Amino acid sequence: MNRAEKTLAQAAEAGLEMTRLPAHIAIIMDGNGRWANAQGKNRLMGHYQGYQALKTTVYAADDMGVGFLTVYGFSSENWRRPEDEVDGLMRLMVEAMQAEIEELIQNRIRVKVIGRLHELPDDLRETFEDAMRRTDHFERLTFTLAINYGGRGEVRDAVRRIAEQVQRGTLSPDAIEESTISEALYAPATPDPDLLIRTAGELRLSNFLLWETAYSEIHVTPTCWPDFDGASLIAAIKEYQSRVRKFGGLGQ
Ligand code: FPP
Repeated sequence: MNRAEKTLAQAAEAGLEMTRLPAHIAIIMDGNGRWANAQGKNRLMGHYQGYQALKTTVYAADDMGVGFLTVYGFSSENWRRPEDEVDGLMRLMVEAMQAEIEELIQNRIRVKVIGRLHELPDDLRETFEDAMRRTDHFERLTFTLAINYGGRGEVRDAVRRIAEQVQRGTLSPDAIEESTISEALYAPATPDPDLLIRTAGELRLSNFLLWETAYSEIHVTPTCWPDFDGASLIAAIKEYQSRVRKFGGLGQ
């Protein structure tokens, strides 16, 4: 069996309904530091193992036919970490994207990066821009990395863009709808997440996709991110499929 067949067999064994998959899964990948600490390793080793878990998760999602996967790679608040950890994460992201890009292309995965990319080191920004350019035409999984991303900052940037249109006279304040705001966010073509997964047990959003997760189902697992794998993703989707989504109605 190849990798995709194995993932699909695992999903079938877990009883997943493949016609009711979440179209968009978002993940807060937490617990790299705790994982490293528990193993007596340094935090950067935790992030390196987090990269391996991310790779497994991207291909598991693609194998199952999930359309969109968005992961929180570096928040706009993560700059507050010690300089060596921030530098190590920036270097890891450059090296990981450069190491993975050919395989992502072979698998026809579309890479997107959202966040304030212009504030990133040049080599990282250029690596991401190159990955986006080379995969933009693919139509399988859209894999979005949120880097130097904050949910409030995203809404602020959207408000600025809308205010500019109002100032130019191309948009009337009365014509601003919720959809106007959604369309001014970083990834307007991406649907809102159906499922938000958070690893390592904390029960908070940490400024991730604040506008977009209004009606997302939330799955929190105690598993630290480096230990997350295809089976963990399947378990999260299984729980999602047991929920009744109501969107404020009665769910009928
Ligand atoms: C949270 O763990 C994780 C991060 C801040 C970074 C996420 C980064 C990766 C998964 C590395 C690979 C990323 C790419 C894009 C290749 P934490 O450090 O907050 O863990 P802790 O709460 O246990 O300290």
